[in-house]
Amino acid sequence: MGRRVGLCGIMCSPRGVLGWLLGITLTLVILSLSKGPIPMEVGLVINRFCPSLWHDMKVRNVFALKKQMEMNFSNQAIIKKSYNCSSLINPINDPSAIPEGVPLAFSIVFHRELSVLATQLDMLVNGARHAFCIHVDAKAKPIIRDSVHRMANCYRQRYPGITIIVPNDTIPVYWGHFSLLQSDLLCGRRLYDSDHDWQYMMSIAGTELPSVPLSILESKLLSLNGRSIIPSATPSGPHFHERFSHVWELDLKPTTYSRPNRISGGDDPKRQPKMTQSKIVKIPPPHNLVILKGMRNVILNRTMVAFIHFHPVAKNFLQWMSNSMIPEEGFYATLARVRIYQDEFVTQDLEAPNDEEILVPRLAFWEGHSDPCFGGYVHDVCNFNTQDIPNLVNATQFQTFLFLNKFEATKDPLAPICWRSHVESRLSLIPELHSTAVKGSSLDFSDMKINYNT
Ligand SMILES: *[C@@H]1O[C@H](CO)[C@@H](O)[C@H](O)[C@H]1NC(C)=O
Ligand SMILES: *[C@@H]1O[C@H](CO)[C@@H](O)[C@H](O)[C@H]1NC(C)=O
Ligand SMILES: *[C@@H]1O[C@H](CO)[C@@H](O)[C@H](O)[C@H]1NC(C)=O
Ligand SMILES: *[C@@H]1O[C@H](CO)[C@@H](O)[C@H](O)[C@H]1NC(C)=O
Ligand SMILES: *[C@@H]1O[C@H](CO)[C@@H](O)[C@H](O)[C@H]1NC(C)=O
Repeated sequence: MGRRVGLCGIMCSPRGVLGWLLGITLTLVILSLSKGPIPMEVGLVINRFCPSLWHDMKVRNVFALKKQMEMNFSNQAIIKKSYNCSSLINPINDPSAIPEGVPLAFSIVFHRELSVLATQLDMLVNGARHAFCIHVDAKAKPIIRDSVHRMANCYRQRYPGITIIVPNDTIPVYWGHFSLLQSDLLCGRRLYDSDHDWQYMMSIAGTELPSVPLSILESKLLSLNGRSIIPSATPSGPHFHERFSHVWELDLKPTTYSRPNRISGGDDPKRQPKMTQSKIVKIPPPHNLVILKGMRNVILNRTMVAFIHFHPVAKNFLQWMSNSMIPEEGFYATLARVRIYQDEFVTQDLEAPNDEEILVPRLAFWEGHSDPCFGGYVHDVCNFNTQDIPNLVNATQFQTFLFLNKFEATKDPLAPICWRSHVESRLSLIPELHSTAVKGSSLDFSDMKINYNT
């Protein structure tokens, strides 16, 4: 008893409480009135890396800024904006300024982050040149799905002739489960069947943002001269093997997700259907394929897309993958090295270099590696917040990654907008960036280090 009083002490006395309140209020007032640099890390980050954001708004108060961001870029705000196309679309690319480039198709697997999707499209749409297919998770709330349809209609109005497909026959997507790969392939097929003349198809998630201005992305792909980029490496450690050694099953009964998970908002990721490994040993892969490890982000030319969708070897392999764990990280990587000879003899070129030595489609900060993460990890991947921006700027300064994963506005609505602002600020440097991007006919990435996703 005496102890409790002791602990409470002055803090709990009326004067003490008054003092605390006064102190907190004063700090807030000082912070909000200060005209100079905000003495807070977030303020400093915004000031330095989100210049256009900072100056355009003439808001020097980080709290007010965050509040506005939450109001303007929350899912609710985007839903509202989807009824008014002119407030929804804020493209950063000027079609008349970007020279004719390589037409692309984007297969986007989308769940619920409307504001990240809106930012992603603002950054990727270039008039009617590129094609998009957005797979909306069948579990997404109807209001989210309807907003994506309205968003697509806004783009069709703004850029007549644009290919933007939002399939209705979508599937529920669960982390770790085959459905993620299926949803990507569903959109891939729609884009293949469309009459758009894309040269490359890129698989991305609705929570990724381009790392570079679109014209740089286009020129990187142009310099590939038609070849695909499919990361593919020999996996290390037993964990990867376990994903394909036994049959995995989706337990649809919501359970508490077994890892600490600091995300809140939206549907609760702590209570999700979980993948469990059964005791059933899987039969060996068809054609004696060696399972290799890559990532879901691939850059495919038309030949490769046709191979993946229609060739019997790919179809057999897809079927075999359907009861494995995180199949999207093995599917493309394994098929990338398949060679089929005239006599239908199927083998794999395990000696060929990893395409990541040419171009890395995506950067993520993985848990357990040296990259810091302020936003917190979900499924081992850092969900960026504003304080992660300086590290992203640094990581992308000397090496090109096409996309950054992952942004969730429910985690920090400022981070995607801040990243967009950073990329936008690089648009003015484009002539200079171009000259380094397409120097010579082949790109020299010999000094590149790949230190993630292992
Ligand atoms: C938020 O929206 C309001 C009204 O459209 C606008 O005046 C303000 O500049 C926006 N703020 C930000 C941070 O975009
Ligand atoms: C739609 O958005 C534009 C731009 O933000 C705004 O000027 C206009 O008033 C809005 N229209 C309606 C009907 O809300
Ligand atoms: C898909 O659903 C949307 C909204 O419910 C509708 O407007 C659209 O016509 C449908 N598309 C097809 C191809 O059925
Ligand atoms: C398409 O990509 C595959 C895989 O990189 C490559 O073998 C093939 O040569 C490419 N096709 C063309 C036409 O460049
Ligand atoms: C910037 O990136 C380089 C290379 O990736 C790394 O060695 C360095 O520590 C980073 N600097 C900061 C300040 O994070």
